[in-house]
Amino acid sequence: MEKSYKKLLSNNKKWVVKQLRMDPNYFETLAKGQTPEYLWIGCSDSRVPANEITGTKPGEMFVHRNIANMVVHSDMNMLSVLSYAVDVLKVKHIIVCGHYGCGGVIAAMGKKQYGLIDNWLRHIKDVYRLHHNELDSIADPEQRVRRFVEVNVMEQVNDLGKTTIVQNAWQRKQELHLHGWVYDIHDGIIKDLNVTVTGLEDMNAMFHVS
Ligand code: CO
Repeated sequence: MEKSYKKLLSNNKKWVVKQLRMDPNYFETLAKGQTPEYLWIGCSDSRVPANEITGTKPGEMFVHRNIANMVVHSDMNMLSVLSYAVDVLKVKHIIVCGHYGCGGVIAAMGKKQYGLIDNWLRHIKDVYRLHHNELDSIADPEQRVRRFVEVNVMEQVNDLGKTTIVQNAWQRKQELHLHGWVYDIHDGIIKDLNVTVTGLEDMNAMFHVS
């Protein structure tokens, strides 16, 4: 019990030594500030570490993670991260990255009660309702979950574009691209869903705000 926990601190000491060996000014440079180009919105799943799978280093990616990489427009945590990333850090790309085999998405497809989390899963169920014609037509349950993971990411990209934070950035001609990706835990490959949104013209007029 104690051993597995203390391992983290001893790992940290080894990591510091390793970093300083490669660059004696490593921490001094990082301490000066961050200018990340990317905001990552991913799943909390421990198997999807944003930096590791994209080869990005500390300082290169601003990260927000929650169950099933959701963009819920009343979530103060997500909105604060988004606002800081866009308005202050001026990131150029926002990546919503889902992953196949996502427990949150699988749970949202079922009827079982899990407790408090059911209220979060409801947002994912809403995505199912929007795409139920396509999803219900997929006979293989595994393929249906895979597609659900993909359409969920697409909807979250779309929801990002509906926020005033993103739309105001576009209005002031700030370059900001929204991307939807899915990571496959089975082979480590990230698939770009090619649903990139680069401006207001890509959004349904219904959601334009001025
Ligand atoms: Co997940």
